Amino acid sequence: MNKHNILVTGGAGFIGSHLVRHLVGKYPDRTTVNLDKLTYAGNPANLRDIESAGNYVFVRGDICDAALVADTIRRYNIGAIVNLAAETHVDRSIDDPSVFARTNVLGTLTLLQVARDCWGGEAADKRFYQVSTDEVYGSLPLGGGAFSESSPYAPHSPYSASKASADHFVRSFGDTYSLPTLISNCSNNYGSYQFPEKLIPLMVNNIRLDRPLPVYGSGLNVRDWLHVEDHVEAIDLILHNGRPGETYCIGGSNERTNIDLVRLLVRTTDRLLGRSEGTSERLITFVGDRAGHDMRYAIDSSKLRRELGWQPLRTFEEGIEQTVAWYLENIEWLDSVTSGDYMHYYDRMYSGR
Ligand code: NAD
Ligand code: DAU
Repeated sequence: MNKHNILVTGGAGFIGSHLVRHLVGKYPDRTTVNLDKLTYAGNPANLRDIESAGNYVFVRGDICDAALVADTIRRYNIGAIVNLAAETHVDRSIDDPSVFARTNVLGTLTLLQVARDCWGGEAADKRFYQVSTDEVYGSLPLGGGAFSESSPYAPHSPYSASKASADHFVRSFGDTYSLPTLISNCSNNYGSYQFPEKLIPLMVNNIRLDRPLPVYGSGLNVRDWLHVEDHVEAIDLILHNGRPGETYCIGGSNERTNIDLVRLLVRTTDRLLGRSEGTSERLITFVGDRAGHDMRYAIDSSKLRRELGWQPLRTFEEGIEQTVAWYLENIEWLDSVTSGDYMHYYDRMYSGR
């Protein structure tokens, strides 16, 4: 891949903001353009520290808007598209799947069509990179196996069904139109700037506010946690050194049950708040299970490690400590993103459980 400018979609969200900051810092002679609709999950404040960098451009807009996408690709001479723009919360997809189909499926299809048309016969050194999820592979039993690039697709939630559909479209554009595509399927990320509807920031925020800590079902579901900056480094490697047409699985090899993780968050948050460790255990509340709740995810990332030399650099213990500390040092950020209709959403989501 040559040294074209990069279009990141969804760059004002959790992973996108870390990726944009990384690209802007690492590639000063290339422009990184961030196209983001700024839904409830997108927040320009996530990128305040780099917003005046000379090689950064923000475009507010929708990936479903073909004219805007085409104009952005041409205006900024874009040669690589990294698509992170998506509706991402499983519970919201159960509540209202239609926006997931629109953004995640039709939005990705729009980007693919516009990239194909703008790049035409010059596409060979360009890249279309789809950032996808391990949830497309469905659920594993407790205690055995891991997803890899050859695992069959078996999505269970409207969210994962929409991401799976997008992956199929991406692959089809490689096969049908020779668009140089890349896909990665990553496990659960954690770190700063994650919207507090997701497990880790939701728990930290509720612990500090002395609110109930809702644990779905038995609490024995397992997730494989990876620090967001390790994910970003994998995306950079795959974008620049991955083989077009290939898929790469990314995971932390770091499985935890939800209840063990919530207890760790309670201990860490209590300690950092100066409370005696475990005070907030009493807030743990088992609530009704998520519909279609996947039991376990685990990722075998040996292809990425072997072919591109990637390995996660952060340990979970250090990463969680730093992450909890970040949320507690950024109460203003937490308060700002949980204002507006957040509590309305939160109460509706949890009152039925
Ligand atoms: P997020 O919800 O924090 O951010 C999504 C961003 O996309 C927001 O900035 C939002 O404004 C933007 N967006 C939404 N709809 C848009 C549209 N129609 N046009 C333009 N922008 C739009 O998401 P995240 O957790 O950072 O996830 C980013 C990507 O990574 C998603 O594609 C997700 O499926 C994938 N992923 C996430 C995880 C994870 O653990 N968070 C793991 C694997 C893969
Ligand atoms: O695996 C990658 C995926 O990880 C991404 O593709 C998704 O975009 C991202 O949201 C995440 O999905 P999960 O559903 O695994 O994440 P979430 O934080 O919503 O939930 C993690 C686990 O914790 C899950 O088993 C449900 C449970 N949970 C979640 C919340 C919000 C609770 O027990 N209580 C809660 O309040």
